[in-house]
Amino acid sequence: MPHIPPSDKALVPFVSVENMMKLVHHIGIEPMLRGLAEYIEQDFRRWDLFDKTPRIASHSAEGVIELMPTSDGEVYGFKYVNGHPKNTSAGLQTVTAFGLLANVGNGYPVLLSEMTVLTALRTAATSAMVAKYLAPKGADTMAMIGNGAQSEFQSLAMKAICGVKSVRLWDIDPAATRKAAHNLKGLGLDVHLCSSAEDAMEGAQIITTCTADKQYATILTDNMVGAGVHINAIGGDCPGKTELAPGVLHRAEIFVEYPEQTRIEGEIQQLAPDHPVTQIWEVINGSKPGRSSAGQITLFDSVGFAIEDFSALRYIRDHIGSTDLYLELDLLADPDDPRDLFGMLNRAAP
Ligand SMILES: NC(=O)c1ccc[n+]([C@@H]2O[C@H](COP(=O)([O-])OP(=O)(O)OC[C@H]3O[C@@H](n4cnc5c(N)ncnc54)[C@H](O)[C@@H]3O)[C@@H](O)[C@H]2O)c1
Repeated sequence: MPHIPPSDKALVPFVSVENMMKLVHHIGIEPMLRGLAEYIEQDFRRWDLFDKTPRIASHSAEGVIELMPTSDGEVYGFKYVNGHPKNTSAGLQTVTAFGLLANVGNGYPVLLSEMTVLTALRTAATSAMVAKYLAPKGADTMAMIGNGAQSEFQSLAMKAICGVKSVRLWDIDPAATRKAAHNLKGLGLDVHLCSSAEDAMEGAQIITTCTADKQYATILTDNMVGAGVHINAIGGDCPGKTELAPGVLHRAEIFVEYPEQTRIEGEIQQLAPDHPVTQIWEVINGSKPGRSSAGQITLFDSVGFAIEDFSALRYIRDHIGSTDLYLELDLLADPDDPRDLFGMLNRAAP
């Protein structure tokens, strides 16, 4: 049989990890973080339009695998993501991901992308976009507790979007802190290696907790947190996996992405199901206040929501067009007669 190449109907642009890394360099990491934050903010402004559901989680003793779908009525997106805190000891990452956008009109995928790097970028962009609304005025110092895969992205997004000048690193594993300090060298931040979480929080107006542990952990106890700070809590994102003592939560004004998901996965799983929280999209569109006094403790109880991934994929789709940083993947069967899928097998007959 002559080789019959797939038609255009079969091909879906695919952004590999290699091309995602090249795209980060092509755009520049700080402009890319700012661009992603703008896309996420735009989509949070049109929150009502989206299909929303808590992500669909499959839990095991070792971790979780999740699907995160959403749609704005024209484009559908989903992300596959895992969270396996013990993976790093086997040389694997805690979090890996890939995702897809599709045309709602005909269901055909229009983009497939790696999302491990993209998740780190979008999580950091979301954190900084939210901190822009909630952090105290003039905040320029951040404590970065947990110096793993997400930490440099978090630090740079806070610099690029909120004007943070100094990061104070702490991790129970000194090798992680040395790695983060090394990676952040020369990128325009003052980097301090700290000896404890308390030391890292010294003088910090923004406190980011980004640790990975499958069980309830207490990274911040009540007595560690003073007035007037913003807490960006990233690592508590699964049932039974939290980072903050309940006392901290009771003193804070709590902001969330999508309450239906955060009440299952976030720090607030430790609180009563009707504990008041503010949705961040309402602060962005001006219908609810963000920080209301200098002394207030604000908490972004981040778990990561599907719309952020949708926005990130939308950003990638808009930015690869003018580059060659994607492959055309033969992903969709394209029989000559749409009903003759069986006959199409003959194209590959030996
Ligand atoms: N909210 C979101 O949208 C979102 C997105 C991505 C990842 N996450 C979560 O963020 C967390 C970090 O992800 P990662 O990819 O950087 O993981 P990682 O495994 O690469 O890094 C986690 C780091 O936390 C450190 N750590 C563990 N316990 C600690 C403690 N008690 N004090 C200080 N440091 C401690 C570890 O030594 C490690 O260096 C994970 O829990 C992940 O599930 C959340």
